[in-house]
Order: sequence, then structure tokens, then C-alpha cells
Amino acid sequence: MSPGRVPLRVVVLGRGAIGRPVALALAAGHVEGARLAGVFDSRGGVRYEQGVPPFPADGAPLPPESLPETADLVVEAAGHPVLEDLGARVVACGIDLLAVSVGALCAPAARSVLTGGPGRLYLSTGAIGGLEVIRALAESGALRRVRIETTKRATTLVQPWMDEAERERLRTLAAPVELLRGSPATVARAFPRSANVAASVASAAGNWDLVEAVVRADPACADTVHRIEVGSDAGEHSFQIRNVPSPDNPATSALVPHAVLRAIRDIAGRAVTLI
Ligand SMILES: NC(=O)c1ccc[n+]([C@@H]2O[C@H](COP(=O)([O-])OP(=O)(O)OC[C@H]3O[C@@H](n4cnc5c(N)ncnc54)[C@H](O)[C@@H]3O)[C@@H](O)[C@H]2O)c1
Repeated sequence: MSPGRVPLRVVVLGRGAIGRPVALALAAGHVEGARLAGVFDSRGGVRYEQGVPPFPADGAPLPPESLPETADLVVEAAGHPVLEDLGARVVACGIDLLAVSVGALCAPAARSVLTGGPGRLYLSTGAIGGLEVIRALAESGALRRVRIETTKRATTLVQPWMDEAERERLRTLAAPVELLRGSPATVARAFPRSANVAASVASAAGNWDLVEAVVRADPACADTVHRIEVGSDAGEHSFQIRNVPSPDNPATSALVPHAVLRAIRDIAGRAVTLI
């Protein structure tokens, strides 16, 4: 960090598979130019790690209106409802927000509130890549369509709305099967945790109607695989990302907290960056 530069004060919402390692890295001073100002989790004021105190200190509900005195950047790692509610209030207070629960943007109303400022909304690249190419194609006017196909271990795709027969089918699946194909919003309604990547692709495309999302279940798949196929007039672009699941949450890729930390470094003013 340049001499005299004040570190970015970061508040983390959620201390799960993503929020916890992010908070720990910030608390340990591993992110140059940024420091941990607090961690807020609805599980309340339990002191869960040395050096990472709950925030607010008394474990009370977080009043976003008081954040301007505490934070320059809020990192949302707590779920779609938190992004829609607390996240929207953070942005409305004029504080910048780095969000991982990008699937919440599938709802047009949430999209409109979250992008309404005055705080800036940063969407984490999270579990996937290739977004910079999709953005450049969108910029050029050459982008025609994008399909993102996500394959996950079948048991991680069991949903509360499924009846017992469907749950049992997923638990005892013998071969890979396509579960759903549709718009990012369709996937968000059925498989919210699989909608983040579709929403990220749609945000990169700048046009939600160009994106088709596919969710596949594979009984033998230990990793999560995302295949992105881009149709454009400017070449051929396809990406495959195979991610090892987080040891703390099999529905989340272990890569995601590192994508968040990389983004915080960039926001904090890294001297050289890829944008
Ligand atoms: N963008 C991506 O590529 C990507 C990838 C994986 C996960 N995600 C999303 O990131 C989010 C977090 O994932 P995770 O694996 O860390 O989840 P997790 O379940 O491991 O942790 C979430 C934490 O948030 C806390 N929480 C829940 N409601 C809260 C509230 N109202 N206020 C404060 N804290 C609250 C929970 O107590 C929990 O500790 C999820 O929405 C997930 O879908 C995004």
C-alpha cells in the first residue's frame, strides 16, 4: 500500500464457507490495503475465531444506517435474502457492496434496487471465469447467446420443494441427468444456489434474455463443473471450469472466497490489475 493511504474498512456479512475465510484473511492482514472492520452473521454474537469479533459487538441486528461510520466496503456472503434486503439498504446508504449471492439479481425488482446506488455494486466472479470475454463481446455488439451448463453432485441438488420421490431419485441416481433448462430466473426459482453463475453470465452479457441455464445432476461427480458456450459473430468461445467443493459447504466451490479476496485487493487499489 502506498505510504499514507488509509486501509479500506471491510465489513463481512455471513461467516460461512465464503465469509469465514474472507474475514480470517482480512483479520490476519493478508489483504494489502484493506482491514476487517467486523463480521455480521445472524447466528449472533458468538466469538467464533480469535481476532474476528462479531459485529456489532453486542450481537444486535445490524443497522445498515450506522455503517458509514464503520465501513467503506461491505462484503455480502450470507445468501440471496440478505443481498436483497440488507444489501439493498447498504447500497442505499452510499456504501459499496461486493456481493456473492448474485442469483438474487434474477428478480428484476431486486436488480433495480441493488443497482440504484448511490453505493456501487460489485458482483463477485465467484465460481466461474470467462466473464471478461463475454463482456467484451457484449461491448462489441457481436454477442448472440450464452449457455451455461452446471453439473453438480446429485445429492447437493436436493431442494426443499421436491417431493420424497424426487429426493429419492436424486439420492439413488445411476447416471447423469438434466434437471432443468431455462432462463436464469427459472433456475433461480428451482435451484437458487445454482443460479449465481447464471446470473453472473447474464450480468456480463448485459442482456438476461440471451442466457440459457442448464442444471445437471451427476451421481459420480465429486466436483462442480460449469460449461459456458458463447455464440457470437466474433469467434468461438467456450469455457469449462471444474471446481473442488468447499470442505465447509459442498454446494459452494472452494475457489469462491479467493475470488472475493482477489476482488477486495482490486477495490483496495492494487497497483496492477486485470480488468
Ligand atoms: N457467485 C458465486 O459463484 C457463488 C458461489 C457459491 C456460493 N454463492 C452464494 O454465496 C452465498 C454464501 O455461500 P456460503 O457457502 O458461504 O453459505 P453458508 O451457508 O456456508 O454461509 C452463509 C452464512 O450466512 C449466515 N446468514 C444467513 N442469513 C443471514 C442474515 N440474515 N444475516 C446475516 N448472516 C446470515 C449464516 O448463518 C451462515 O453463517 C450463498 O448465497 C451462495 O448461493 C455464490
